[in-house]
Amino acid sequence: MSRLNNRHIVLGITGGIAAYKAAELVRRLKERGAQVHVVMTAAAQEFITPLTLQALSGNPVHTSLLDSEAEAAMGHIELARWADLLLVAPASADFLAKLAQGQADDLLSTLWLACQAKKAVAPAMNQAMWADAATLANMDVLRQRGVTVLGPAAGEQACGDVGLGRMLEPTELADLAEAQFQGRALDGKRVLITAGPTREAIDPVRYISNHSSGKMGYALARAACDAGASVVLVSGPVALPCPEGVERVDVSCAQEMYDAVMQRVARTDLFIGCAAVADYRPAQAVEQKIKKNAETMQIELVRNPDIISAVAGAEKRPFTVGFAAETQDVISYARGKLERKNLDAIIANDVSDAGIGFNSDQNEVVLLAAGLEQALPRMGKQQLATTLIDRLAHCMAS
Ligand code: C5P
Repeated sequence: MSRLNNRHIVLGITGGIAAYKAAELVRRLKERGAQVHVVMTAAAQEFITPLTLQALSGNPVHTSLLDSEAEAAMGHIELARWADLLLVAPASADFLAKLAQGQADDLLSTLWLACQAKKAVAPAMNQAMWADAATLANMDVLRQRGVTVLGPAAGEQACGDVGLGRMLEPTELADLAEAQFQGRALDGKRVLITAGPTREAIDPVRYISNHSSGKMGYALARAACDAGASVVLVSGPVALPCPEGVERVDVSCAQEMYDAVMQRVARTDLFIGCAAVADYRPAQAVEQKIKKNAETMQIELVRNPDIISAVAGAEKRPFTVGFAAETQDVISYARGKLERKNLDAIIANDVSDAGIGFNSDQNEVVLLAAGLEQALPRMGKQQLATTLIDRLAHCMAS
């Protein structure tokens, strides 16, 4: 899998005949797992339509600085912050001059100034324009400011001239975009995470469940995605948005969660069981709503499958990580669970402390594995998730 997986690329397209190749470039970037937002100058729209690029990128195309609707959806500053790489391809002579001058009179040039991510340009112009002293001086300015210049290539040009000035081919540009990024801890890995509670039906309107908010599992999914992995999140019912770049599979009860996980386990490198799976379900889910006729009632419960034990026992077994929410003797109970469920690692936390665990935004855990006991102090769940993913990637590699 590519180092571009889950990377955020803003592709700026300026006005030149090579703009048609930008469509192909979007495809090459998407093939490698990048998320792409396209920004077009007015001149670029004379060569290729925003609709084409919207269809290929899967995102609305940004064309105007002064469009209140577009700004409300994702403003230019937000887009500048979202980008891991801002790539202008093709970059016309005029636009490169504008960048060298620091002008900000349209969306793309404004975004360029506002963006603190890596920046690259792929010049495309007539060979005489590329060789002109003004263009060469502008390129020097941009290089000195840390802008990566990709190309141009030599060859036959649309105008009939032969020489330097052709935009690099889309595949070459995608390779060079990828080369801008260092490897990440989970590049190329497939991660499966369970999160949230399960609901075990008593009748069509009632169920047994628990207070799990899903926050920790969702934070882990986001952190794994940021670390380069392809992430599937099998989620019980929670009120959280799916992190960008993560594939969410919605389930309701433990049996559905079990099925969704076991279907995917052979294609998983790292499994994290973060869900608070109900241990028992009503032996019979009654088809009609139960009437309140009697003073007391009994519901017979039967055990649910233990999902994580099934994962750990699978023939093609991923690196398997569980959670142990305990109220006393946290470490020794967690170690017991690590061994009994045949896990590679377990994350233990003390849920008797109201400030951490279940609905809270903070958590404090101990990571246990064979020969490892690492306490991670109280911190926000997202920061903790990032730390845990980093440690788990390390454990997997060693
Ligand atoms: O046995 P206990 O519920 O304490 O174990 C917690 C760990 O096991 C968590 O990782 C949880 O997601 C997982 N689990 C599971 N299936 C169950 C019960 C727990 O995967 N039925």
